[in-house]
Amino acid sequence: MAARIIDGKQVAHDIRAELKKETAQLKEQGIVPGLGVILVGEDPASQSYVTAKERACAETGLYSDDNRLPADTTQADLVALIQNMNADPKIHGILVQLPLPKHLNEAEALLTIDPAKDVDGFHPVNVGRMVLGEKAFLPCTPHGVIQLLARSGVTIAGAHAVVVGRSNIVGKPLANMLLQKKENANATVTVCHTGTADIAYHTRQADIVIVAAGRPNTLTADMVKDGATVIDVGVNRVEDASRKSGFRLVGDVDFEAIKDKASLITPVPGGVGPMTIAMLLYNTVESAKRAMA
Ligand code: GUN
Repeated sequence: MAARIIDGKQVAHDIRAELKKETAQLKEQGIVPGLGVILVGEDPASQSYVTAKERACAETGLYSDDNRLPADTTQADLVALIQNMNADPKIHGILVQLPLPKHLNEAEALLTIDPAKDVDGFHPVNVGRMVLGEKAFLPCTPHGVIQLLARSGVTIAGAHAVVVGRSNIVGKPLANMLLQKKENANATVTVCHTGTADIAYHTRQADIVIVAAGRPNTLTADMVKDGATVIDVGVNRVEDASRKSGFRLVGDVDFEAIKDKASLITPVPGGVGPMTIAMLLYNTVESAKRAMA
């Protein structure tokens, strides 16, 4: 079977167009949704993510407050900046780009963010609400995966979804979101990780496989059931001398081999990546609406 390729760029574009309209309506009421962005250090991948997030804000009509801090920034300065943003009425969402340099305490930084402005959904209050099925800011990448599935016509309810990876940013929240007794959820969920004895045994039974392991070729064609839906969250830089940059981006999935076996598959780039940014904008607009309610 030749898989249909899910166009994440198009789905993200559709969501951003919806948000642009909403932002224009909010502006008529005197509200400009604002995102405070904090990047510490010079990690190239983080720099390009943050630049893309700021560009997306501008294109959608959101205000963004860009803070690029040196790698030797102290914990006290980072916490003080977050506290200023907590108190700033122009800022409805705060994004601290992860990972932070090793000398900084990530957990403390995330705890400092006002849960009402936690548009990444990483604060323990939002994580707890999400697990309990209460109203919460949902983390952007897993929420993007669910939107991508739903808007591609994939039925999640009743499906067996296998998540490969247990990170706090993707695997753990995604597994929790998929198992909620809600619309676009209600799946039977299996989570595989580096401690799983035989990952292929589980993925072969999956109707939906979502791979967020951070390693190329984690999922190969022999690990996939005919007709499955395959979502690749991985973004890995591999050396490529033919490119001006010296690298190209690949996912965690052997796309070329699996596209002839799956029924639906996301490419890298152009799959999940653009959805993360769309959902960040969604949460920021949502936060601005909550602030005026
Ligand atoms: N690093 C990788 N993904 C993310 C994300 O979604 N949000 C933040 N803040 N950092 C990240």
